[in-house]
Amino acid sequence: MKLRDFALECYFERYEFTAPYLLAQSDCEAMTARELLALEPGSEAGYLDCWLGYTETWGDPALRERIAALYPGLGPEHILCFHGAQEAILAYLNVMLDAGDHAILMTPNCPSVWEAVRAIPGLAWDPWTIRDGGGRWTVDLDELEGLLRPNTKVIAVNSPNNPTGLTLTNAQLRRLCDLCRDRGIYLFCDEVYKGLEWDGEARVAAATLYEKALSLNVMSKSYGLAGLRVGWAASKDRETLQRLARFKHYTSICDAAPAEYLARIALLHGDALLARNRAIIQGNMQTADAFFARHPAVFDPRPMDAGPVAFHALRLDMGAEEFCRRAVTEQGVLLLPGSVYEAPPQYFRMGYGRRSFGENLNQLELFLRKNKF
Ligand SMILES: Cc1ncc(COP(=O)(O)O)c(C=O)c1O
Repeated sequence: MKLRDFALECYFERYEFTAPYLLAQSDCEAMTARELLALEPGSEAGYLDCWLGYTETWGDPALRERIAALYPGLGPEHILCFHGAQEAILAYLNVMLDAGDHAILMTPNCPSVWEAVRAIPGLAWDPWTIRDGGGRWTVDLDELEGLLRPNTKVIAVNSPNNPTGLTLTNAQLRRLCDLCRDRGIYLFCDEVYKGLEWDGEARVAAATLYEKALSLNVMSKSYGLAGLRVGWAASKDRETLQRLARFKHYTSICDAAPAEYLARIALLHGDALLARNRAIIQGNMQTADAFFARHPAVFDPRPMDAGPVAFHALRLDMGAEEFCRRAVTEQGVLLLPGSVYEAPPQYFRMGYGRRSFGENLNQLELFLRKNKF
Protein backbone atom coordinates (compact mmCIF):
# COMPACT_ATOMS: atom_id res chain seq x y z
CA MET A 1 0.00 0.00 0.00
CA LYS A 2 1.43 3.35 -1.09
CA LEU A 3 -0.17 6.31 0.68
CA ARG A 4 -0.13 9.90 -0.52
CA ASP A 5 0.70 12.64 1.97
CA PHE A 6 -1.94 13.21 4.66
CA ALA A 7 -2.69 16.87 3.79
CA LEU A 8 -4.28 17.72 7.15
CA GLU A 9 -1.42 16.31 9.21
CA CYS A 10 1.13 18.01 6.93
CA TYR A 11 -0.62 21.33 7.58
CA PHE A 12 -0.61 20.76 11.34
CA GLU A 13 2.98 19.54 11.29
CA ARG A 14 3.91 22.97 9.98
CA TYR A 15 2.09 25.08 12.57
CA GLU A 16 0.56 23.11 15.46
CA PHE A 17 3.52 23.33 17.83
CA THR A 18 4.72 26.79 16.79
CA ALA A 19 1.57 28.90 16.28
CA PRO A 20 0.64 30.41 19.66
CA TYR A 21 -3.13 30.68 19.08
CA LEU A 22 -4.75 27.39 18.16
CA LEU A 23 -8.25 27.74 16.77
CA ALA A 24 -8.41 24.67 14.57
CA GLN A 25 -7.99 21.74 16.92
CA SER A 26 -10.45 18.86 16.83
CA ASP A 27 -9.72 17.49 20.29
CA CYS A 28 -10.94 18.72 23.65
CA GLU A 29 -8.86 20.28 26.41
CA ALA A 30 -6.32 17.76 27.70
CA MET A 31 -4.92 17.40 31.25
CA THR A 32 -1.81 16.09 32.96
CA ALA A 33 -1.40 12.50 34.13
CA ARG A 34 -1.36 13.89 37.69
CA GLU A 35 -4.73 15.61 37.22
CA LEU A 36 -6.23 12.47 35.74
CA LEU A 37 -4.91 10.22 38.51
CA ALA A 38 -6.28 12.62 41.11
CA LEU A 39 -9.79 11.68 39.93
CA GLU A 40 -9.36 8.16 41.28
CA PRO A 41 -7.94 7.82 44.80
CA GLY A 42 -5.18 5.22 45.01
CA SER A 43 -4.60 5.11 41.25
CA GLU A 44 -1.17 6.79 41.36
CA ALA A 45 0.48 3.76 42.93
CA GLY A 46 -1.03 1.50 40.26
CA TYR A 47 0.34 3.78 37.57
CA LEU A 48 3.86 3.70 39.02
CA ASP A 49 3.65 -0.08 39.28
CA CYS A 50 2.66 -0.53 35.62
CA TRP A 51 4.59 -3.43 34.14
CA LEU A 52 6.46 -2.07 31.13
CA GLY A 53 6.53 -5.22 29.06
CA TYR A 54 4.50 -5.98 25.94
CA THR A 55 0.77 -5.86 26.40
CA GLU A 56 -1.97 -7.91 24.74
CA THR A 57 -2.71 -7.02 21.10
CA TRP A 58 -6.43 -6.84 21.86
CA GLY A 59 -5.80 -4.49 24.80
CA ASP A 60 -5.73 -4.83 28.58
CA PRO A 61 -8.67 -7.09 29.57
CA ALA A 62 -9.71 -4.73 32.38
CA LEU A 63 -9.74 -1.79 29.95
CA ARG A 64 -11.74 -3.78 27.39
CA GLU A 65 -14.22 -4.68 30.09
CA ARG A 66 -14.62 -1.00 30.90
CA ILE A 67 -15.00 -0.04 27.23
CA ALA A 68 -17.54 -2.81 26.61
CA ALA A 69 -19.73 -1.32 29.35
CA LEU A 70 -20.28 1.65 26.99
CA TYR A 71 -22.00 -0.64 24.45
CA PRO A 72 -25.17 -2.38 25.70
CA GLY A 73 -25.17 -5.99 24.51
CA LEU A 74 -21.42 -6.13 23.82
CA GLY A 75 -18.77 -7.81 25.98
CA PRO A 76 -14.97 -7.42 26.17
CA GLU A 77 -14.64 -10.03 23.41
CA HIS A 78 -16.24 -7.44 21.10
CA ILE A 79 -13.58 -4.79 21.79
CA LEU A 80 -10.23 -4.50 20.04
CA CYS A 81 -7.93 -1.71 21.20
CA PHE A 82 -5.81 0.32 18.81
CA HIS A 83 -3.02 2.84 18.97
CA GLY A 84 -5.38 5.82 18.48
CA ALA A 85 -8.29 5.84 16.08
CA GLN A 86 -6.04 6.38 13.09
CA GLU A 87 -4.52 2.91 13.24
CA ALA A 88 -7.98 1.38 13.25
CA ILE A 89 -9.04 3.36 10.15
CA LEU A 90 -6.04 2.14 8.20
CA ALA A 91 -6.49 -1.42 9.43
CA TYR A 92 -10.20 -1.59 8.66
CA LEU A 93 -10.09 -0.23 5.13
CA ASN A 94 -7.11 -2.41 4.27
CA VAL A 95 -8.56 -5.55 5.67
CA MET A 96 -12.09 -5.14 4.35
CA LEU A 97 -11.63 -3.76 0.84
CA ASP A 98 -10.10 -5.33 -2.28
CA ALA A 99 -9.92 -4.78 -6.02
CA GLY A 100 -13.40 -5.23 -7.50
CA ASP A 101 -15.20 -3.99 -4.39
CA HIS A 102 -17.12 -0.75 -4.11
CA ALA A 103 -17.15 1.51 -1.04
CA ILE A 104 -19.18 4.58 -0.09
CA LEU A 105 -17.49 7.20 2.07
CA MET A 106 -19.24 9.99 3.89
CA THR A 107 -17.48 13.18 2.71
CA PRO A 108 -15.94 15.25 4.19
CA ASN A 109 -14.41 12.76 6.56
CA CYS A 110 -11.05 12.15 8.19
CA PRO A 111 -8.80 12.49 5.08
CA SER A 112 -7.02 9.26 5.98
CA VAL A 113 -10.22 7.44 5.03
CA TRP A 114 -10.17 8.45 1.41
CA GLU A 115 -6.39 8.29 1.14
CA ALA A 116 -6.43 4.70 2.44
CA VAL A 117 -9.15 3.83 -0.05
CA ARG A 118 -7.35 5.55 -2.93
CA ALA A 119 -4.32 3.41 -2.16
CA ILE A 120 -6.22 0.16 -2.84
CA PRO A 121 -5.76 -0.63 -6.54
CA GLY A 122 -8.90 -1.60 -8.44
CA LEU A 123 -11.30 -0.43 -5.76
CA ALA A 124 -14.25 1.78 -6.78
CA TRP A 125 -15.73 4.29 -4.37
CA ASP A 126 -18.24 7.11 -4.22
CA PRO A 127 -18.53 10.01 -1.83
CA TRP A 128 -21.75 10.42 0.13
CA THR A 129 -21.57 14.18 0.42
CA ILE A 130 -22.57 16.29 3.39
CA ARG A 131 -24.12 19.33 1.76
CA ASP A 132 -24.23 22.95 2.81
CA GLY A 133 -27.91 23.62 3.35
CA GLY A 134 -27.26 27.34 3.89
CA GLY A 135 -26.70 27.71 7.60
CA ARG A 136 -26.69 23.95 8.37
CA TRP A 137 -24.96 20.88 7.03
CA THR A 138 -27.22 18.06 5.83
CA VAL A 139 -27.05 14.54 4.39
CA ASP A 140 -29.66 12.67 2.42
CA LEU A 141 -30.14 8.93 2.95
CA ASP A 142 -32.08 8.65 -0.32
CA GLU A 143 -28.99 9.97 -2.06
CA LEU A 144 -26.93 7.29 -0.30
CA GLU A 145 -29.34 4.61 -1.45
CA GLY A 146 -28.88 5.82 -5.01
CA LEU A 147 -25.11 5.24 -4.71
CA LEU A 148 -25.40 1.57 -3.76
CA ARG A 149 -24.10 -1.03 -6.19
CA PRO A 150 -24.38 -4.82 -6.09
CA ASN A 151 -20.68 -4.96 -5.07
CA THR A 152 -20.86 -2.27 -2.37
CA LYS A 153 -19.00 -3.85 0.50
CA VAL A 154 -18.38 -1.07 2.99
CA ILE A 155 -20.08 2.20 3.91
CA ALA A 156 -17.83 4.41 6.05
CA VAL A 157 -19.39 7.28 7.94
CA ASN A 158 -18.14 9.71 10.54
CA SER A 159 -20.89 10.88 12.87
CA PRO A 160 -20.62 13.26 14.67
CA ASN A 161 -18.66 14.55 11.74
CA ASN A 162 -15.35 16.31 11.59
CA PRO A 163 -15.24 18.97 10.15
CA THR A 164 -18.93 19.85 9.62
CA GLY A 165 -20.32 19.06 13.08
CA LEU A 166 -23.20 17.21 11.42
CA THR A 167 -24.50 14.17 13.27
CA LEU A 168 -26.91 11.49 12.15
CA THR A 169 -30.00 11.24 14.34
CA ASN A 170 -30.72 7.87 15.92
CA ALA A 171 -33.54 7.43 13.40
CA GLN A 172 -31.14 8.09 10.49
CA LEU A 173 -28.56 5.70 11.95
CA ARG A 174 -31.22 2.99 12.29
CA ARG A 175 -32.24 3.49 8.69
CA LEU A 176 -28.61 3.29 7.61
CA CYS A 177 -28.15 0.05 9.55
CA ASP A 178 -31.32 -1.45 8.01
CA LEU A 179 -30.15 -0.48 4.57
CA CYS A 180 -26.79 -2.20 5.19
CA ARG A 181 -28.39 -5.27 6.76
CA ASP A 182 -30.72 -5.77 3.76
CA ARG A 183 -27.68 -5.96 1.47
CA GLY A 184 -25.07 -7.50 3.78
CA ILE A 185 -22.93 -4.32 3.65
CA TYR A 186 -20.37 -3.66 6.39
CA LEU A 187 -20.77 -0.35 8.21
CA PHE A 188 -17.76 1.51 9.58
CA CYS A 189 -18.97 4.19 11.93
CA ASP A 190 -16.36 6.62 13.24
CA GLU A 191 -17.91 7.89 16.46
CA VAL A 192 -14.91 9.63 18.00
CA TYR A 193 -17.02 12.70 18.88
CA LYS A 194 -19.85 10.75 20.47
CA GLY A 195 -21.07 12.27 23.72
CA LEU A 196 -20.82 15.84 22.41
CA GLU A 197 -24.28 16.20 20.87
CA TRP A 198 -25.92 19.62 21.18
CA ASP A 199 -29.52 18.75 20.40
CA GLY A 200 -30.15 16.79 23.59
CA GLU A 201 -30.48 13.38 21.89
CA ALA A 202 -27.87 10.93 23.20
CA ARG A 203 -26.71 8.92 20.20
CA VAL A 204 -26.63 5.13 20.12
CA ALA A 205 -23.54 3.35 18.83
CA ALA A 206 -23.86 1.65 15.45
CA ALA A 207 -22.23 -1.51 16.86
CA THR A 208 -25.20 -1.99 19.18
CA LEU A 209 -27.68 -1.75 16.29
CA TYR A 210 -26.20 -3.91 13.57
CA GLU A 211 -24.07 -7.04 13.71
CA LYS A 212 -21.83 -6.03 10.78
CA ALA A 213 -21.29 -2.49 12.09
CA LEU A 214 -18.07 -1.40 13.72
CA SER A 215 -18.04 1.60 16.05
CA LEU A 216 -14.75 3.44 16.31
CA ASN A 217 -13.88 5.51 19.33
CA VAL A 218 -10.81 6.87 21.08
CA MET A 219 -9.65 8.72 24.18
CA SER A 220 -8.38 11.61 22.02
CA LYS A 221 -11.45 13.62 21.14
CA SER A 222 -14.56 13.80 23.37
CA TYR A 223 -12.48 12.69 26.38
CA GLY A 224 -9.64 15.11 25.58
CA LEU A 225 -6.77 12.64 26.11
CA ALA A 226 -5.11 12.47 22.70
CA GLY A 227 -1.66 11.85 24.16
CA LEU A 228 -2.73 8.45 25.44
CA ARG A 229 -3.11 7.19 21.87
CA VAL A 230 -5.70 4.65 23.00
CA GLY A 231 -8.55 3.94 20.62
CA TRP A 232 -10.82 0.96 20.02
CA ALA A 233 -13.09 -0.84 17.62
CA ALA A 234 -16.36 -2.20 19.01
CA SER A 235 -18.27 -4.79 17.00
CA LYS A 236 -20.33 -7.96 17.36
CA ASP A 237 -18.51 -9.18 14.25
CA ARG A 238 -15.71 -11.19 15.86
CA GLU A 239 -14.36 -12.39 12.53
CA THR A 240 -13.68 -8.82 11.37
CA LEU A 241 -12.08 -7.98 14.71
CA GLN A 242 -9.80 -11.03 14.37
CA ARG A 243 -8.67 -9.83 10.96
CA LEU A 244 -8.04 -6.35 12.30
CA ALA A 245 -5.97 -7.74 15.17
CA ARG A 246 -3.79 -9.55 12.62
CA PHE A 247 -3.26 -6.26 10.80
CA LYS A 248 -2.32 -4.61 14.08
CA HIS A 249 0.46 -7.20 14.44
CA TYR A 250 2.16 -5.32 11.59
CA THR A 251 1.56 -1.78 12.82
CA SER A 252 1.88 -1.39 16.60
CA ILE A 253 1.50 -4.99 17.93
CA CYS A 254 0.04 -3.62 21.14
CA ASP A 255 -0.64 -0.40 23.03
CA ALA A 256 1.52 1.08 25.79
CA ALA A 257 0.76 -0.26 29.28
CA PRO A 258 0.84 3.16 31.04
CA ALA A 259 -1.53 4.59 28.43
CA GLU A 260 -3.95 1.69 28.83
CA TYR A 261 -3.86 2.11 32.59
CA LEU A 262 -4.61 5.85 32.31
CA ALA A 263 -7.36 5.20 29.75
CA ARG A 264 -9.06 2.82 32.20
CA ILE A 265 -8.88 5.40 34.97
CA ALA A 266 -10.28 8.03 32.61
CA LEU A 267 -13.19 5.81 31.63
CA LEU A 268 -14.03 5.23 35.29
CA HIS A 269 -14.74 8.97 35.18
CA GLY A 270 -15.86 9.11 31.56
CA ASP A 271 -19.14 10.91 32.20
CA ALA A 272 -17.40 13.59 34.27
CA LEU A 273 -14.79 14.13 31.55
CA LEU A 274 -17.48 14.44 28.89
CA ALA A 275 -19.43 16.89 31.07
CA ARG A 276 -16.29 19.00 31.59
CA ASN A 277 -15.58 19.12 27.88
CA ARG A 278 -19.19 19.83 26.95
CA ALA A 279 -19.15 22.81 29.32
CA ILE A 280 -15.95 24.18 27.76
CA ILE A 281 -17.37 23.85 24.23
CA GLN A 282 -20.74 25.36 25.11
CA GLY A 283 -19.06 28.39 26.67
CA ASN A 284 -16.92 28.75 23.55
CA MET A 285 -19.94 28.46 21.27
CA GLN A 286 -21.44 31.53 22.97
CA THR A 287 -18.18 33.43 22.59
CA ALA A 288 -18.07 32.47 18.92
CA ASP A 289 -21.69 33.51 18.29
CA ALA A 290 -20.93 36.99 19.64
CA PHE A 291 -17.75 37.15 17.55
CA PHE A 292 -19.56 36.18 14.34
CA ALA A 293 -22.33 38.69 15.07
CA ARG A 294 -19.64 41.40 15.11
CA HIS A 295 -18.28 40.29 11.70
CA PRO A 296 -21.21 39.55 9.38
CA ALA A 297 -19.31 40.76 6.32
CA VAL A 298 -16.43 38.33 6.90
CA PHE A 299 -18.05 35.09 8.05
CA ASP A 300 -21.07 33.01 7.17
CA PRO A 301 -21.07 30.64 10.15
CA ARG A 302 -22.34 27.06 10.18
CA PRO A 303 -23.01 26.13 13.81
CA MET A 304 -22.35 22.48 14.64
CA ASP A 305 -24.99 19.95 15.75
CA ALA A 306 -22.38 17.93 17.63
CA GLY A 307 -18.68 17.71 18.38
CA PRO A 308 -16.00 20.33 19.00
CA VAL A 309 -15.48 21.54 15.40
CA ALA A 310 -17.45 23.65 12.96
CA PHE A 311 -16.92 24.19 9.24
CA HIS A 312 -17.69 27.84 8.59
CA ALA A 313 -17.76 29.76 5.32
CA LEU A 314 -15.88 32.96 4.52
CA ARG A 315 -17.65 35.80 2.76
CA LEU A 316 -14.40 37.48 1.66
CA ASP A 317 -13.18 37.41 -1.92
CA MET A 318 -10.03 35.57 -0.88
CA GLY A 319 -10.34 31.82 -0.37
CA ALA A 320 -10.00 30.18 3.05
CA GLU A 321 -6.55 28.85 2.15
CA GLU A 322 -5.14 32.37 1.80
CA PHE A 323 -7.09 33.66 4.80
CA CYS A 324 -5.79 30.83 7.03
CA ARG A 325 -2.23 31.23 5.77
CA ARG A 326 -2.29 34.93 6.53
CA ALA A 327 -3.93 34.46 9.94
CA VAL A 328 -1.19 32.08 11.02
CA THR A 329 1.79 33.88 9.50
CA GLU A 330 0.72 37.44 10.40
CA GLN A 331 -1.00 36.86 13.75
CA GLY A 332 -0.07 33.31 14.87
CA VAL A 333 -3.71 32.15 14.73
CA LEU A 334 -4.13 28.61 13.44
CA LEU A 335 -7.30 27.82 11.49
CA LEU A 336 -7.63 24.89 9.12
CA PRO A 337 -8.48 25.56 5.46
CA GLY A 338 -11.12 23.29 3.97
CA SER A 339 -8.74 22.47 1.11
CA VAL A 340 -7.21 19.72 3.29
CA TYR A 341 -10.65 18.09 2.98
CA GLU A 342 -10.79 18.86 -0.75
CA ALA A 343 -13.78 21.09 0.11
CA PRO A 344 -14.82 24.19 -1.87
CA PRO A 345 -12.51 27.18 -1.29
CA GLN A 346 -14.63 29.24 1.14
CA TYR A 347 -14.69 26.78 4.06
CA PHE A 348 -12.43 26.55 7.08
CA ARG A 349 -12.51 24.53 10.30
CA MET A 350 -12.65 26.07 13.73
CA GLY A 351 -12.13 24.05 16.93
CA TYR A 352 -14.06 24.91 20.11
CA GLY A 353 -12.60 22.36 22.51
CA ARG A 354 -9.85 24.37 24.20
CA ARG A 355 -9.96 26.66 27.23
CA SER A 356 -7.85 29.22 25.35
CA PHE A 357 -10.56 29.63 22.69
CA GLY A 358 -11.70 33.14 23.78
CA GLU A 359 -8.15 34.48 23.96
CA ASN A 360 -7.32 32.98 20.57
CA LEU A 361 -10.46 34.42 19.04
CA ASN A 362 -9.39 37.85 20.32
CA GLN A 363 -6.20 37.41 18.31
CA LEU A 364 -8.22 36.54 15.23
CA GLU A 365 -10.24 39.70 15.81
CA LEU A 366 -7.01 41.73 15.99
CA PHE A 367 -5.98 40.20 12.69
CA LEU A 368 -9.32 41.22 11.15
CA ARG A 369 -8.99 44.73 12.49
CA LYS A 370 -5.39 45.19 11.29
CA ASN A 371 -6.46 44.15 7.80
CA LYS A 372 -9.76 46.09 7.89
CA PHE A 373 -11.69 42.95 6.95
C1 LIG B 1 -13.13 11.75 12.63
C2 LIG B 1 -11.78 11.34 13.11
N1 LIG B 1 -11.47 10.05 13.19
C3 LIG B 1 -10.26 9.64 13.62
C4 LIG B 1 -9.30 10.54 14.00
C5 LIG B 1 -7.97 10.05 14.49
O1 LIG B 1 -7.93 10.08 15.88
P1 LIG B 1 -6.56 9.81 16.67
O2 LIG B 1 -5.75 11.03 16.56
O3 LIG B 1 -6.96 9.57 18.05
O4 LIG B 1 -5.92 8.63 16.07
C6 LIG B 1 -9.57 11.90 13.92
C7 LIG B 1 -8.54 12.89 14.29
O5 LIG B 1 -8.60 14.04 13.99
C8 LIG B 1 -10.84 12.31 13.50
O6 LIG B 1 -11.18 13.61 13.43
